[in-house]
Amino acid sequence: MRLSTGTKLLVSSCLAVVASTQGQPDARGKTPFDYVNPLIGTTNGGHVFPGATLPFGMAKAGADTFGGENQGGFSSDSSPIYGFSHMHDSGTGGSASLGNFPIFAQAGCPNDDINACKYFKTARMSPRINETVHARPGYFDITLQSGVRTEMTVTNHTALYRFTFPETPSTENTTLSPHFLVELTDLPDTRSEGNITVYPDNGRITGGGKFSPSFGVGTYQSYFCLDFDGASIRDAGVWTNTRASNQAQSLKIKPGDSRQSPSLNPAGGWAQFEKPAKGNQMLARVGMSFVSEAQACANAEREVPDVNFDGLVEAAESAWKDKFSVITLNDGGVSDVLLKAFWSGVYRSMISPQDYTGENPFWNDGEPYYDSYYCIWDSFRSIHPLLTILDPHSQTLMIRSLLSIYKHEGFLPDCRMSLCKGNTQGGSNADIVLVDAYLKNITAGIDWALAYEAVVHDAEVEPADWNIEGRGGLASWKTLGYIPTDNLDLDGVGLDTRSISRTVEYAYNDFTIATLARALGHADDAAKYLARSGNWKNMFNPAQTSFLNGTDTGFTGFLQPRFMNGTFGFQDPIYCSPLQNFTACYLNPGGGETYEGPVWLYTFFVPGDMSALIDTLGGSDEFVKRLDWLHESGILYVGDEQAFLNLFLYHYVGRPGKSAERAHQYIPSQFNDTVSGIPGNDDSGAMGSFEALVMMGLYPNAGQDVYFITPPFFESVSITNQQTGNTATIRNINFDPSYKNIYIQSATLNGEPYTKNWITHSFYLEGGVLELTLGPQESAWGTRPEDVPPSLGPFGNMTTSADVDARWMW
Ligand SMILES: *[C@@H]1O[C@H](CO)[C@@H](O)[C@H](O)[C@H]1NC(C)=O
Ligand SMILES: *[C@@H]1O[C@H](CO)[C@@H](O)[C@H](O)[C@H]1NC(C)=O
Ligand SMILES: *[C@@H]1O[C@H](CO)[C@@H](O)[C@H](O)[C@H]1NC(C)=O
Ligand SMILES: *[C@@H]1O[C@H](CO)[C@@H](O)[C@H](O)[C@H]1NC(C)=O
Ligand SMILES: *[C@@H]1O[C@H](CO)[C@@H](O)[C@H](O)[C@H]1NC(C)=O
Ligand SMILES: *[C@@H]1O[C@H](CO)[C@@H](O)[C@H](O)[C@H]1NC(C)=O
Ligand SMILES: *[C@@H]1O[C@H](CO)[C@@H](O)[C@H](O)[C@H]1NC(C)=O
Ligand SMILES: *[C@@H]1O[C@H](CO)[C@@H](O)[C@H](O)[C@H]1NC(C)=O
Ligand SMILES: *[C@@H]1O[C@H](CO)[C@@H](O)[C@H](O)[C@H]1NC(C)=O
Ligand SMILES: *[C@@H]1O[C@H](CO)[C@@H](O)[C@H](O)[C@H]1NC(C)=O
Repeated sequence: MRLSTGTKLLVSSCLAVVASTQGQPDARGKTPFDYVNPLIGTTNGGHVFPGATLPFGMAKAGADTFGGENQGGFSSDSSPIYGFSHMHDSGTGGSASLGNFPIFAQAGCPNDDINACKYFKTARMSPRINETVHARPGYFDITLQSGVRTEMTVTNHTALYRFTFPETPSTENTTLSPHFLVELTDLPDTRSEGNITVYPDNGRITGGGKFSPSFGVGTYQSYFCLDFDGASIRDAGVWTNTRASNQAQSLKIKPGDSRQSPSLNPAGGWAQFEKPAKGNQMLARVGMSFVSEAQACANAEREVPDVNFDGLVEAAESAWKDKFSVITLNDGGVSDVLLKAFWSGVYRSMISPQDYTGENPFWNDGEPYYDSYYCIWDSFRSIHPLLTILDPHSQTLMIRSLLSIYKHEGFLPDCRMSLCKGNTQGGSNADIVLVDAYLKNITAGIDWALAYEAVVHDAEVEPADWNIEGRGGLASWKTLGYIPTDNLDLDGVGLDTRSISRTVEYAYNDFTIATLARALGHADDAAKYLARSGNWKNMFNPAQTSFLNGTDTGFTGFLQPRFMNGTFGFQDPIYCSPLQNFTACYLNPGGGETYEGPVWLYTFFVPGDMSALIDTLGGSDEFVKRLDWLHESGILYVGDEQAFLNLFLYHYVGRPGKSAERAHQYIPSQFNDTVSGIPGNDDSGAMGSFEALVMMGLYPNAGQDVYFITPPFFESVSITNQQTGNTATIRNINFDPSYKNIYIQSATLNGEPYTKNWITHSFYLEGGVLELTLGPQESAWGTRPEDVPPSLGPFGNMTTSADVDARWMW
């Protein structure tokens, strides 16, 4: 079909009314929206997707680079652009994700010969003109050296592109007659099967393909429906390799076909048009679906019935402004760098998980279906806790979708993308996401009995392949109380590395399960899982020392490998840190006993029982020294998510001022407003949500109803809770934008003195004002034993539910 232009979309005019209440300009004349720069993190390993998306939208339109750091499609470097595609993941660590069915425009074919146009990615790709890249939420714009400008925006399942062609094409002997191709491939060229059908009377092209997920197992099918608007059709057909034909209107690549390799034998469809009627512009609309071509077309026709590119941009912007509107800042005169980092961090935390409701071909149980939990190992610490504060409704739908996945797949996911199971990196961290939600009143429509069944399943039942779900080594976990480094596993298979990091992660997973057990009245289970949550102690070798360049660091007692017979092994505590063999502990055979980090780091991971850890490490003073060394020696890489919580552990020894120092140590030096402005993979917004939470002043200990109080980076921050309508304000008195006054001297909550250095989620639900009076030196505020966040304390002898009740923290 041909799309008609001119009719303004109903949806955009409705939303325009909302827009007037979305964020008043600040003293600098800017709204939150204006501070967002989607290009932050598009180089230096951030792998951020900077293209057009709605909050949690399935369609994500972006430019795709050939080579470079193209995990998210585009990167801010000099790599050329080979196409524009309609779905992406953001910030992923492994291979490039999605990018299915890229389209590409050429202003015309030399000598008007269809075979003189370029078809291979490597032949057609064109360098960008740097200054032409413009990105803002819901919109992306780029001009290539071919002279073709491409702007893009989206609805939930549909990408819309506006191409502007040069009057005189840059190739020799070419007159303007736009040529578009679509290719049956994806970013990493994983297509196996593929179909394409071309409708020469109007240029519609539909198709499907089978692809591989980027960090998981199996395959998935995806479908598209492409329509054009703005010029009369001349001709259309299919192409393969370097040749195109208008004699064939369809093409099938079946299993065993010689065109299995998209990079060696590419294939797709094409359509060519007369000179565009207006402004040398044409529009391309691409509906996407995981169900069928027909559903891809139906999505496009429903969401973009009439083409009004600017109206859709406005609707997308409005959707983002709406999300930002729950936060109000009084910036107190801080530098723009921090405002840009903050709002861009909030923005990136709402790119994924992606709402694929209605697009799941495997089951439809009436529940929401979200995908691109990429990965929960990364997202449980900051993304989901931030969404719980800013968008509890979406967080609720995500929890329901996790439970639906459990029901139909048999296990909760720890990572999931493109309808496939993704790799587990450590624990079964959906347990933490569920319990965190439970404690923070994420309740609507959630079956908590089912949630409890799901987390207990993680703790009790070992899957046949624990690389993709659940936990491995459960028999040893239950009998020996740790994951032995030389584990004999008769129940399942998986990559037998990471025995130390898996042990501390399983222990914390069990801690959160105990919390839920107790809340739901399963007292005996609570005692059992609390006891298991102490299993980290079984891999702690009190005699282990740590040397650096032959010099004793002065600290004794570290987690160490431990064999089934109880003997300790050895892994240098600094191994797999920036100080030694930084990249030796990835998901590969021989990858070490800690995951993406050293023993030094994992020895701090006991989030549920910090007081026991502090005792184990020699008491408060010794703990502070050790934590200082972690932050000052260069051993801590803050670009990986296990680093995050370590900024705030000083709270547990009554030194909240030191946590504030650490917050400023890393922001903005490691998290800022440049294209290289995050230190590691964003992992679907993990870095972004971390920086936003730190700057807001209340950082969560995920899985518990605990927020550590540090002064916000702004004079005040107010959050309006979607569920209750109440507003919580954190206000700094004596705020100083150069951050000399970062130490809390005293605090009040709703006018009453507040001495604890932590607060619960009830503050966000009930609203109120937390006022922090700041000064240039640490004070006595928040330093007493009764001021610190809860810990279990010694629990080796806790065996009955009465013991649990006696020790319970809340
Ligand atoms: C464009 O910018 C990238 C870095 O973002 C740089 O590597 C490249 O050389 C620039 N290209 C031009 C033509 O300026
Ligand atoms: C897009 O999907 C979200 C749910 O993820 C929904 O709230 C929103 O209304 C949808 N937007 C449009 C324009 O339909
Ligand atoms: C362009 O056209 C001229 C004249 O017909 C011809 O000599 C030349 O070879 C053509 N160039 C290309 C690249 O086709
Ligand atoms: C290709 O089309 C056939 C029907 O003609 C269908 O059975 C198959 O699933 C399609 N495959 C893809 C990858 O779209
Ligand atoms: C350790 O030694 C290496 C090389 O000898 C040196 O580059 C590094 O700075 C030293 N590290 C520390 C913390 O002393
Ligand atoms: C325990 O097992 C480890 C690993 O197999 C072995 O190296 C060690 O010698 C054993 N210790 C004892 C006391 O048997
Ligand atoms: C660790 O690094 C050293 C020196 O850089 C190298 O010789 C050694 O092979 C590395 N070990 C591993 C397991 O990567
Ligand atoms: C911004 O952050 C990046 C990534 O952590 C860092 O490399 C860079 O030095 C920072 N830039 C500034 C100006 O602080
Ligand atoms: C919990 O959330 C529900 C809506 O989901 C809301 O009605 C209720 O007031 C909330 N409870 C508290 C204690 O704020
Ligand atoms: C359990 O241990 C704690 C501390 O070690 C002790 O105070 C408490 O009395 C013990 N409880 C029982 C029931 O033995």
